Amino acid sequence: MIQFPENFCWGVATAAYQIEGAAHEDGRGESIWDRFCENSSATPPITDISLAPPPGKVLNNDSGLIAVDHYHRYQEDVQIMRDLGINAYRFSIAWPRILPTGRGQVNAAGLDFYDRLVDSLLAAGVEPFATLYHWDLPQALQDEVGGWASRETAQAFADYADIVSRRLGDRVHHWITLNELSVSSFLGHESGGHAPGLRDPRIAWQTTHNLLLAHGMAVPALRTNGDAQTRVGITLVITPVFSATMAEEDQRVAQFQDGKLNRWFLDPLFRGSYPADILTLLGEMAPKMEAGDAEIIARPLDFLGVNYYFRMIVRHLSGQGPLSFEQVQPEGSEYTAMGWEVYPPGLHAVLTRLHQEYQIPQFYITESGAAFDDTISADGHVHDPRRVEYLHDHFLQARSAIADGIPLAGYFIWSLMDNFEWAFGNARRFGIVYVDYPTQQRIIKDSGYWYLDLIATNGANL
Ligand code: FCB
Repeated sequence: MIQFPENFCWGVATAAYQIEGAAHEDGRGESIWDRFCENSSATPPITDISLAPPPGKVLNNDSGLIAVDHYHRYQEDVQIMRDLGINAYRFSIAWPRILPTGRGQVNAAGLDFYDRLVDSLLAAGVEPFATLYHWDLPQALQDEVGGWASRETAQAFADYADIVSRRLGDRVHHWITLNELSVSSFLGHESGGHAPGLRDPRIAWQTTHNLLLAHGMAVPALRTNGDAQTRVGITLVITPVFSATMAEEDQRVAQFQDGKLNRWFLDPLFRGSYPADILTLLGEMAPKMEAGDAEIIARPLDFLGVNYYFRMIVRHLSGQGPLSFEQVQPEGSEYTAMGWEVYPPGLHAVLTRLHQEYQIPQFYITESGAAFDDTISADGHVHDPRRVEYLHDHFLQARSAIADGIPLAGYFIWSLMDNFEWAFGNARRFGIVYVDYPTQQRIIKDSGYWYLDLIATNGANL
């Protein structure tokens, strides 16, 4: 039977704004997510949490002000990872803790926090994978230069990456520059569902380029401040897109959505240029670039982090523009609490495609997981059989990708614990550890114990 490779990273993932809380502590500056949540609070809360929030709103007017208080409870959280046998942890660093106004004055207390976290991970035998940007841009950069709409933010990011890696580069050997650029760009600047909540497609496309540029500009410092073990990558969310029918107009929107969400980021990173079909369709909406940008963006990487959640099946919306579309939800499929279709074969399909179509030396699944409506049972436990099944089925796909010869080096479950799920607030639980928000008590769910067993047997119980 195919086993998982030796040194496979059995990981879990989190992100700073979603877990840390302590928003006003130890000199942390304001982030665009603090502002987005505050703006949401200016209007009455949406209390029917079964709904998807409209642009600019966070369900229940929740925020990351306290989140799951990881800033104060990180030792307990590291201990949980150790108890479960987890050997790798993907977390993100809050830029506004390091540089409260995005650039300039460094906040020593911010660096100290991640220093302590990294040391406690290493003491617990957990390999740190640090993401430098998981959506919490310093608000000052938004106010002063227009955030990711400006190249100045890319330069500021490179400087920030230098500052962080100077301090941690002797112990953090895996760096992920940015998380899910498509979501930063399009949810943040086109649909307005995420911070900074803009609804301007032209700006959204400009931010895609500046995010990619920021990534490339940061790579040299991460290497310089590291050592022979240092490995640098980026995390993209890859969404397989299918056309609902063979009709030409449906296939056209499928090709465009695949281009916009996947190839627009993969091609410049791993082939050195934007996809021609999308550039043509964008016309004058295409982002402004400068000579030399393509080379910066395509600097060689050691790995790609892949986030996989669902597939998209699309159909052209008749009577509207040629690229307008709607999503089709296949009947008979299972859906998570996010309304996302459970589709495990997509994980294998995504890895196969990336391996065949791009020269990528190594992969990690940097996020995969599911939200369900978990509750504490009378026996005091949290029984989450659907998440166990979900994870089981996705790990099987990962194992078969490895059997095919795809260099998959690790798998990070989203998420270690329940947390602030962006516009869905605290109302969607992704953790393998339950958090009782009023008390901040952590309770390992059945899926957490299932993971313990999976890791202990190196996947033999799949
Ligand atoms: C991803 C995000 C992560 C989390 C999951 C559910 O898009 O990277 O922070 O919210 O979705």
